[in-house]
Amino acid sequence: MNAVAHPVFRLEDYRQTPYTIPRTELCFNLHPEKTQVQAKLAFTPRQDTPAATPLVLDGDELILVSVAIDGKPLPQNAYSATADRLEIFNPPAAPFTLETTTQINPQANRQLMGLYRSNGIFCTQCEAEGFRRITYFYDRPDVLSVYTVRIEAEAKSCPVLLANGNPRESGALEDGRHYAVWHDPFPKPSYLFALVGGDLEAVHDTFTTAGGKKVALAIYVEKSKGNRALYAMDALKRSMRWDEEAFGREYDLDVFNIVAVSDFNMGAMENKGLNIFNDKYVLADPQTATDADYAGIERVIAHEYFHNWTGDRITCRDWFQLCLKEGLTVYRDQEFSSDQRSRPVVRIGEVRMLAAAQFPEDAGPLAHPVRPRQYAEINNFYTTTIYEKGAEVVRMVHTLLGDTLFRAGMDLYFQRHDGEACTIEDFIACFAETSGRDFSQFMLWYEQAGTPHIKAEFDFDEKGNSLTITLEQSLKSTPGQTEKQPMVLPVRFGLVGADGRDMAFQADNHVEGDVMVLSGKRQSFCFTGLKSRPVPSLLRGFSAPVTIELPLSDKDMAFLARHDSDPVNRWQALNRLLLKTCAQMAQTASAPDEQLVDLIGEIAGDETLDPAFRVMCLSIPSEAEIARVIDHDVDPERIFAAWQGLLAAIAQKHQVHFLALWQNIDRKAPYSPDAASAGKRALANILLDYLARAENAPQRAADAYGKADNMTDRIAALRILAHQFPHAEQTKAALQDFATRFAADPLVMDKWFAVQATRAGADTLEQVQALTEHPLFSYDNPNRVRALIATFAAGSQTGFNRADGKAYDFLAETILMIDKQNPQLASRLLTTMRSWRSLEKNRKGKIKTALEKIAHADRLSRDVNDIVTRMLHE
Ligand code: TRP
Ligand code: ZN
Repeated sequence: MNAVAHPVFRLEDYRQTPYTIPRTELCFNLHPEKTQVQAKLAFTPRQDTPAATPLVLDGDELILVSVAIDGKPLPQNAYSATADRLEIFNPPAAPFTLETTTQINPQANRQLMGLYRSNGIFCTQCEAEGFRRITYFYDRPDVLSVYTVRIEAEAKSCPVLLANGNPRESGALEDGRHYAVWHDPFPKPSYLFALVGGDLEAVHDTFTTAGGKKVALAIYVEKSKGNRALYAMDALKRSMRWDEEAFGREYDLDVFNIVAVSDFNMGAMENKGLNIFNDKYVLADPQTATDADYAGIERVIAHEYFHNWTGDRITCRDWFQLCLKEGLTVYRDQEFSSDQRSRPVVRIGEVRMLAAAQFPEDAGPLAHPVRPRQYAEINNFYTTTIYEKGAEVVRMVHTLLGDTLFRAGMDLYFQRHDGEACTIEDFIACFAETSGRDFSQFMLWYEQAGTPHIKAEFDFDEKGNSLTITLEQSLKSTPGQTEKQPMVLPVRFGLVGADGRDMAFQADNHVEGDVMVLSGKRQSFCFTGLKSRPVPSLLRGFSAPVTIELPLSDKDMAFLARHDSDPVNRWQALNRLLLKTCAQMAQTASAPDEQLVDLIGEIAGDETLDPAFRVMCLSIPSEAEIARVIDHDVDPERIFAAWQGLLAAIAQKHQVHFLALWQNIDRKAPYSPDAASAGKRALANILLDYLARAENAPQRAADAYGKADNMTDRIAALRILAHQFPHAEQTKAALQDFATRFAADPLVMDKWFAVQATRAGADTLEQVQALTEHPLFSYDNPNRVRALIATFAAGSQTGFNRADGKAYDFLAETILMIDKQNPQLASRLLTTMRSWRSLEKNRKGKIKTALEKIAHADRLSRDVNDIVTRMLHE
């Protein structure tokens, strides 16, 4: 294995720093290759810090130009400075000021961490440990400081100069340069620092808070793209209002700025008062963005804005507590989206996402607790477990407490911990206190990795008109955790009578309203006063992130799919039946269940249902989801055959019906991205997909492509063409047309790359390789790499898993190449192979060889080394 041993960081090793930094003054002299950073840091020893305790600061690729304490240059023998560390051997015992000047090269920074340039714009990304690439500092979240930042730059190329907080002063300098000074009154950790300098265009607006404070809002984008930032601005204002109404949280600075850049490792970043975004989550208009893009923008804008309280005003003590800000903020953005859109449809989307991404992570070699106890590289812990499972844990607190007590707990958290760097214990203690409930067992949700499994038994007693539901929980071992304890699992439920209505019942004391609280290994819940045998509907609203095994016949399950009053469980019941039939088809090459095919048609045509909900029901489980239930000896070809077989059966059976439904959808209204309109478009497009399958001809989709007046319809038609009829003339023409239309817009061309990369079939690899030569493709840009390479690995099951293993080799080579410049991107690409052990023998052997090739390569980054080591660990 790789020769370099990397240190491991452990939660129990947490210690405070010996010094605090109450004030930080920075002066940036921006220059593409030689930016100088003067830092003036006010240090104060803590009360218990012994005199002469060395001051040790973090750095990364820094060049030290000068260093002084209290105005006096330090002699050589008073300190040691390397690229990644500055140590002052014997600092003064009283508060002192450290002045350093460092030099950095933003142009050469391709990691996109620290200060870098994106399309000529200077910008920063400091979370988690990027600030140390700017200046020597205590680069950790528990050192809070008040920042004043001065930026100097060339006026012509950088007319816009931004930093955190409020603008204080600006003016001209000699030699065509100018400056701006920003002051952020709220103490913050270094990871929330941000700076931007460039020639940008802005859209401006204002927001008046509930308390009457007028806030100037601006979204900065590349020149000529301002009109594509209007939806983001609208989403921002709605987020600001919602946080006041739902959580009583008001904005706190005079300005709130957002900047969109095209090179960015993640979605966006919550820097105090100056959020920086991947432009994918800002730019939208009907011609270039899909309904899903609009929804994504709304969600990410809200997410980053909500961090202002959950993340910025109250931050994390250390990176083990990452879910404190991320799980909670995801929960908040989910609630926002639910209030802005259809709550059940949003929830079903979250459940699908958990099942497709988080459950596999929790079942594989990269499984880790929501609060990890150790890490080698923190960048590898920005995972779906921290974010989405972390949000589910907060949701369970809400489920257990109800609206009022949950809100009281949140209020206490904001009031008690404002201005602090906290732990999960601090957060949970607030709910324990306001509710009087004991949360000690609940804390296992933060400690134990893996998806709990519940096995349910139903025992109906005809004579006594009573029902006993017995639930038994289990949790498989995960890396480093073999012994598991029973957890607290809130199971929301209803007892559905023959008429489809929820029955009234009396229950024993572990049932709280409509929630059974399972806390033992095995526990029975008794219900009496029932008139007839009900069909239990368990885990309504997906009340806990678990898998559940139900002793229900297909007939009962179909009954729930038709009648459950909880739409999430209606969909869940249908999805279970679909998964079961797909798995059977894949394993025995059997035909699909006819009654299930009929049921799909029934739901598709049920005009009383929200179109978006019908779309959820019509979109059968993905190949990856089917693979997950099959679990071992997975043959992607057979899964694809089953998946395609089920779609074909549905399409053929309902061809006439679907055509009538499709023709009846009203297309007259002008484009609007709201959820109701989007639902109608999604229904039309999924029906079109089925029609193309039934007709086995590309013409209808080609016509739809030609008529499309918005990106949602255009890309849907293009996808049908490229996936179902890859070699048709109509497909070639449409792909060509798309490339011509959007040649000037790489962000839009990402959709074109992704559509081609996610096609089924072994020859998709050659197509992907050819597309890497396309003039608009670049390995330097994370969005391009994700659109072409990551979507191929995750979205073309038969292409990526082709039997000769060539796609695994291609990915391994690509990862090693990207690792040299952007380790975060490389390690994310690598995680697409995390479920390799469930593959059948031949493919498993080939993918293992590819992984070993990565593991044995020279000079791996810490990021890739950490992931590949864990993936190969026996
Ligand atoms: N805190 C950001 C968010 O969730 C995530 C993020 C943005 C990030 N950029 C990053 C994390 C770079 C690690 C590295 O909103
Ligand atoms: Zn976040």
